[in-house]
Amino acid sequence: MQNPALTERAKPFRLVKYFSLLSLVLIFVGTIILSMFNIHWIRAMQFEKSEAYALLLIENLNHQVFMQFILPVGLQFGKIELHNKDQFERMDSVVRSTLHSFKVDMVNIYGMRDVIAYSFSKELVGLENMGGTSFQNALEGRSSSRLIQKGGFWELLFGVPKEIKIVTFAPLKAEQPLTPVSGLVLGVVEIEQDLSDDYRSIFGFQIMTLVTVSGVMIILFLIMIIAVKRGESIIQKRAQEQLKLKEQLSRAKHLSSLGEMVAGVSHEIRNPLGIISSSAELLQKKIAADDPMNKIPAIIIEESSRLNNIITDFLNFAKPKTPHRFACRIEDVIDKNIRFLSTQTQTKGYVFHTHFDKVLPIIMADSDMLYQAFLNIFINAMQAMPDGGDIHIFAKTADDSLWIAVEDQGGGIPNESMEKIWDPFFTTKDKGTGLGLGIVKNIIEAHGGIVRMENRPEGGARLSIKLPVKEEL
Ligand SMILES: Nc1ncnc2c1ncn2[C@@H]1O[C@H](COP(=O)(O)OP(=O)(O)O)[C@@H](O)[C@H]1O
Ligand SMILES: [Mg+2]
Repeated sequence: MQNPALTERAKPFRLVKYFSLLSLVLIFVGTIILSMFNIHWIRAMQFEKSEAYALLLIENLNHQVFMQFILPVGLQFGKIELHNKDQFERMDSVVRSTLHSFKVDMVNIYGMRDVIAYSFSKELVGLENMGGTSFQNALEGRSSSRLIQKGGFWELLFGVPKEIKIVTFAPLKAEQPLTPVSGLVLGVVEIEQDLSDDYRSIFGFQIMTLVTVSGVMIILFLIMIIAVKRGESIIQKRAQEQLKLKEQLSRAKHLSSLGEMVAGVSHEIRNPLGIISSSAELLQKKIAADDPMNKIPAIIIEESSRLNNIITDFLNFAKPKTPHRFACRIEDVIDKNIRFLSTQTQTKGYVFHTHFDKVLPIIMADSDMLYQAFLNIFINAMQAMPDGGDIHIFAKTADDSLWIAVEDQGGGIPNESMEKIWDPFFTTKDKGTGLGLGIVKNIIEAHGGIVRMENRPEGGARLSIKLPVKEEL
């Protein structure tokens, strides 16, 4: 489950996320609206251009038709009658030669009535009332253009009709050379241009713009999401660290108050314990050695010393010291331990073997604390071998560290206990406190080291310690 305090901290980022998402959406919508205006504007321009183009064509056509058709035909036939095949063909060749290299789909020419007199496609000739108001306007001298779109509903809505044409109507005038006054209106010219391709490319350009903008938006959004995720995880990590520190602090406080209490109680217990033990010793001397009652003071003395040891363990565990470091040698510490233990265990068949590198570094450490740690380790090893045995101790340097291993020939540690042996009060011994390894761990870690326990394949346990050689003070 997420810690509510942690999610609370990530909130400012959620706001950033919402704001950026909102602004991205706004930019996106803005782009769409802008591109719609754009498309409209480009099309209006396109329309104007096409119309101007058509008018220019018509002007040219007007000139050619007047000079090469109306004038000569008027002179030759006296009357213009396009249903006369000769006249029609003449007109056709004039129109086609004038327009052949220009983009025009259809040309219709009307007389003074709304009847098609000439057309690119012959079947239109003779059709009536095709021009409508555009025709009437042109007759009165006003040219005009309109768009004709064909396509489905959606095609028209999105501005990509299947077919789009601009149709321009303009008057066909008699020319009066050398005078700026425009002449009589003789008829009407209708020109049709296909704009479908132009419109399609405009649409394509808009789509490209939109796709580019959306792509950039998406990339921006992704970058922002990544940035926000990073920020969130950093903040969360900080919060977690803070929480952990707080927990550690409160645990340390708890432990130190526990330690103080234990220290106080232990002190109170130790004094009467000393008196009990020395009284029992006195009693022991008073009772004759062969008296069966002599065993009782011995039991009292033994149990008092055990109680004293338990209290010492408690004290050491509950109130870990900070090491007072001085230059020392690990071999000296271990030798001192072995000497102390040998005097007590000579008869029980324990043999200590040391395998130390010739040159071992001097370390900055609290030798009293290390002494205490190794005492616990060696006692454990001896207790694992109740009938005696060999204990091998190795010491070497590697990777700026001092490595120490203690190997015994006992029964080793069952797999299911491997994790628990470091827990305080975990013991498999009738008279154990379960604090020994906890004390070892506290001491080694206080020196910046690492300690671990494993079973040797050959049997027995191996306890390894890694101590930094260049520990900063
Ligand atoms: N060298 C060892 N061989 C086998 N078991 C061990 C060894 N050292 C420790 N243990 C196991 O770890 C337990 C915890 O050890 P420790 O913390 O020193 O407490 P205690 O010695 O009072 O039981 C022991 O009870 C024992 O089961
Ligand atoms: Mg122990």
